[in-house]
Amino acid sequence: MRIQAKTLTAMFGIAGAIGMTAAMAAPNWSGVPAKDVQLFYPGQSSWEWVLTDHPGAEKFRGGKDCAACHIGDEKNMGALLVSGKKNEATPIPGKPGSIDAKVQFEHDAQNMYVHLEFSEGNQPNAKMDNTYATKVTMMLDGGDVPEANRAGCWGACHEDSAGMPSAGGSDRTMYLPKTRAHLSRQGGGDALMPADALAKLKASGYFLEYWQARLNPGAPAAAANGIIFDKLEETKPTAVTAEATYSGGTWSVTLSRKLNAGAGFVPLVPGKRYTVAFAIHSGHTAKRFHYVSFERSLVLDQGNADFVVGKK
Ligand code: HEC
Repeated sequence: MRIQAKTLTAMFGIAGAIGMTAAMAAPNWSGVPAKDVQLFYPGQSSWEWVLTDHPGAEKFRGGKDCAACHIGDEKNMGALLVSGKKNEATPIPGKPGSIDAKVQFEHDAQNMYVHLEFSEGNQPNAKMDNTYATKVTMMLDGGDVPEANRAGCWGACHEDSAGMPSAGGSDRTMYLPKTRAHLSRQGGGDALMPADALAKLKASGYFLEYWQARLNPGAPAAAANGIIFDKLEETKPTAVTAEATYSGGTWSVTLSRKLNAGAGFVPLVPGKRYTVAFAIHSGHTAKRFHYVSFERSLVLDQGNADFVVGKK
């Protein structure tokens, strides 16, 4: 592997690398351009809400993307939503409203790597996930999910998913709008499109992928990944690798997978435009109680995008 424990000690001032696996030739991130990405607490602000009752609804429907209005305002949005004053029925007392992350990408002939560095602040223990303190997730859209091209994770976040206003006690996960026979202000419920229509949609690339690192300070990272189509489904065996270090309150997390991981995965090729977005579950939270970013565009090698992923 390229990053030795010694290098990490020098970079992060820690007395030993944790969670490192010898399988991954992770880049040396010190020379890779970084971008700041703000993640904020979104409360129960669903796809259906942003399309209807939200002050930007008309302009969004008219073609203006979320990021175009909101990047730079995440801290204020998070502070408002986490307080319970707007779109949040069950606020977690004392929870910070946002997390700032530094994000870097690189690829080599085999793999793409993404690196996130962030501090979570003072997180109360919400006791929703008693296995992992923190989970870091990247959502990846191959370009064939119009809702995610324009709104990142909101393309999959619905009024009737678990813990959302119209869930009615259901444990429904995230899902993509076109998989539902009908979509109302209350979400899409459980009535799906006919099986042949669903198969066609999926074959056309209408699904999202996610890569996840599951973390506890001082322990090796656990990797997970999966897709969101008519529901969120974990892929087994895991195609993603995760490693992480935690030092002085700062997480340093690297996720990677093969550029071509086969059927059921977004193929990563130069020149194509992707959408990515990030989520962090902090303070032993689960499901919707996470921080999320607005959408960012990504290309490999060259092009016009928020992230141009260089080759090492
Ligand atoms: C045309 C600009 C515009 C677009 C596009 C837009 N919004 Fe908004 N959004 C607003 C405005 C204005 C508010 C109200 C902010 C305020 O009252 O200070 C708002 C409020 C919000 C809030 C509540 C937090 C708050 O500060 O009030 C969320 C969450 C939100 N928007 C998410 C989204 C998402 C997700 C998208 C894309 C699907 C989106 N917005 C697209 C303008 C926009």
